[in-house]
Amino acid sequence: MRLVLLGPPGAGKGTQSKNLAKRVALVHISTGDILRQNVANQTKLGMEAKDYMNKGELVPDGLVSQMLLDRIKHPDAKNGYILDGYPRNVSQAETLDKELPGKEKINLVVYLETSEAVIIQRLSGRRVCSKCGALFHMQNMPPKKENTCDACGEALYQRPDDKEATIKNRIQVYNKEAQELIGYYSKQNKLHRINADLDAGVVLNKIVQLVEEYNDPAKV
Ligand code: AP5
Repeated sequence: MRLVLLGPPGAGKGTQSKNLAKRVALVHISTGDILRQNVANQTKLGMEAKDYMNKGELVPDGLVSQMLLDRIKHPDAKNGYILDGYPRNVSQAETLDKELPGKEKINLVVYLETSEAVIIQRLSGRRVCSKCGALFHMQNMPPKKENTCDACGEALYQRPDDKEATIKNRIQVYNKEAQELIGYYSKQNKLHRINADLDAGVVLNKIVQLVEEYNDPAKV
């Protein structure tokens, strides 16, 4: 199973992917996480991507697509994966369709629909573990101990692109590309919409249900 999670910044793509990967044994691949690792390690790719990311702009397709195609060739992705943050536009979706062999095409696309007020509340309160990448929210999903990761005990930080001005630009950048991308997967009959303003556990159960129905159509 190869699944794409689409949605605006703060829709919960990372949160849902991490939890879904535990329930359905798929590998979580986040282009945002891979890019942030490259920035932290000061690789050539990281240096090229950093300015785009800090401004909330998309990193050029050529850089991101090559990075993603390299990642999905890794043996751990052989039995399936969840794509979080890729594709971001029709050009990236076409690259995937062109590069993936016939029996390895994307099977299911879940669009996490989220209202703008919810996006802003979620992103401004998000905190991320500096070591293991676990996600928290100051109000919605607070850590047990202030500013400390429940999973590994490291300090939490605020992403540089979660500042108010950058959040607004990220939403604009997303809105520019989103409808065309949604239309692209809708025409392929792969798109399923979920109201992602709901509680994270409710959203997760709906995604698991879609995956199970895909794997066993008799359940529909
Ligand atoms: P990326 O890291 O992909 O950022 P994004 O798409 O803006 O999405 P986010 O990670 O901000 O949000 P999310 O939907 O994962 O929400 P989360 O689960 O964290 O990309 C960053 C940058 O990298 C881009 O701007 C771009 O520059 C570059 N980039 C990446 N991919 C690229 C590509 N393909 N092409 C070009 N450039 C690319 O949740 C948010 C918060 O809400 C958390 O605090 C969480 O605890 C909370 N929360 C989540 N769900 C719920 C819920 N249901 N109820 C209550 N709280 C919730």
